[in-house]
Amino acid sequence: MISFILNNEDISTDQPAGETVLDFVRYHKDLKGTKIGCREGDCGACTILVGELMGDKVRYRTMTSCLMPLANAAGKHIVTIEGINPADGSLTPVQQAMVDESSTQCGFCTVGFVMSLTGFCLSERGRPRPQTAKDVLLSGNHPTADKEAAISAIDGNICRCTGYKSIERAACRVSEQLAANGKQFVPEYFAYITERLGDLNDSAPKAETRPVGSVPFVGGGTDVYVQKPEHMAESYATPLLYDEQLRGIRENGEFIEIGASATVTDLLESDVMNAVFPDLYKHLKLVSSTPIRNMATLAGNFVNASPIGDMTVFFLALDAEIELCTSPHVCKGDTRTLALKDFYLGYKQLARSPEEIITKVRFKKPSGDFRFNFEKVCKRTYLDIATVNTAMSASVTTDASGTLALQSVHLAAGGVAPIPLYLKETSAFLRSKEITEETITAANEIMQSEIAPISDVRGTEQYKRLLLRQLFRTHFVELLAAELTEIAE
Ligand SMILES: Cc1cc2nc3c(=O)[nH]c(=O)nc-3n(C[C@H](O)[C@H](O)[C@H](O)COP(=O)(O)OP(=O)(O)OC[C@H]3O[C@@H](n4cnc5c(N)ncnc54)[C@H](O)[C@@H]3O)c2cc1C
Ligand code: FES
Ligand code: FES
Repeated sequence: MISFILNNEDISTDQPAGETVLDFVRYHKDLKGTKIGCREGDCGACTILVGELMGDKVRYRTMTSCLMPLANAAGKHIVTIEGINPADGSLTPVQQAMVDESSTQCGFCTVGFVMSLTGFCLSERGRPRPQTAKDVLLSGNHPTADKEAAISAIDGNICRCTGYKSIERAACRVSEQLAANGKQFVPEYFAYITERLGDLNDSAPKAETRPVGSVPFVGGGTDVYVQKPEHMAESYATPLLYDEQLRGIRENGEFIEIGASATVTDLLESDVMNAVFPDLYKHLKLVSSTPIRNMATLAGNFVNASPIGDMTVFFLALDAEIELCTSPHVCKGDTRTLALKDFYLGYKQLARSPEEIITKVRFKKPSGDFRFNFEKVCKRTYLDIATVNTAMSASVTTDASGTLALQSVHLAAGGVAPIPLYLKETSAFLRSKEITEETITAANEIMQSEIAPISDVRGTEQYKRLLLRQLFRTHFVELLAAELTEIAE
């Protein structure tokens, strides 16, 4: 039995834990406002809000219901468009902004956009940021909400009619209203959800699971529900996304330790991660879209073993290690640790038995003048998988004469081999080397001998080699941005 709150209704269902939330709301609850477009997480027509009790607050995140198993709804507040419509038939401020800016034509995508913008209003990013002197100068004495963040919130929604500009104007209007305060974006009953979820989580039975079949575990579902939708609908894969033992991002001695079910959004919102990676938002914005980032776990990315997995390449370049055990519930010291680079044996072949789960990811807390860069080239900038991606970490030393050198270099690349590749030889070559044109040219030659790209729909072998060479050079431009600005000045 799976229990949750759907809009304002308490639900207890014995539908299969693998059924999608999309099918449940449309076919069992007759809530047809949530649309079916691609069923692959791409179009955003099925976007819903998922509220999770976090201490004494409910945190809402948008998710694509077409990829979300009912198991992940257990103990949550699931909100469809019907759950935000005011009872008196009026429009919410988000819906009104869409009308006022003529942001809808055929209307098929509109619900998804409204849910994404409503999610933005309820999120931390939607909170007006503290005023800076510049804000006061530009907009008077009002706190400002970030328009760019409002537009980013709809990066997972596709519209085939409007041309987007009118929708972007609606998003900007919503962010202005947030700044003005006093607007109510969701109905009154939301005020009681914290208490109701508390009662539910104290008493509700957990989703019933029987880990069998070819996919015994599910995280956010954003890979397996695209690859095997029919199989997953009938499966009872053990849900790991909300398993408390697999969550959290913390410093632990000399390591930064991340629960394997941490999502890309969890990383983005983590103070620990932001302290280490000042460009984290710039880098992770290149990964999928807001609702997918809200669901996509690190372990799911690693185990999917795509040669272009963004998070895999990111963590390979940190020389991360993973902790594995046979089940989160029987982990009593029987864990093993493996370097992430040793996890990949061949195309989609892993150094892991089928019943093993990843529990943690950890990397050494950077010391010295640590620098990191991530680059990704796709056929389009956002919401696309990479043709080639690459990341590099290093610490930079400067001697008395101002000569720059690299220490503890780790370089990784995707799309250039059957596996996400840790570039061992190139990384070793670069260590303790002075940063010069000759070093970079020689390192590129080693790198080219380490990779084996193939020609496919995303590009020819030659193109991928050239792309990686250019992205490798870009790492140096980004890593040395401060020094290069100084020289330019
Ligand atoms: C629209 C869209 C856009 C995307 N864009 C990108 C992108 O830009 N970059 C990118 O890298 N990826 C992208 N992806 C792929 C996907 O989102 C990521 O790979 C994601 O990290 C998968 O995580 P998940 O939790 O959803 O995995 P799931 O689908 O839940 O699981 C994937 C696999 O991992 C296994 N698994 C999950 N957790 C564990 C665990 N703890 N231990 C052992 N096995 C486990 C599952 O059994 C399954 O075999 C995209 C997907 C979609 C649908
Ligand atoms: S139906 Fe397209 S994202 Fe779900
Ligand atoms: S209004 Fe038609 S798809 Fe967006």
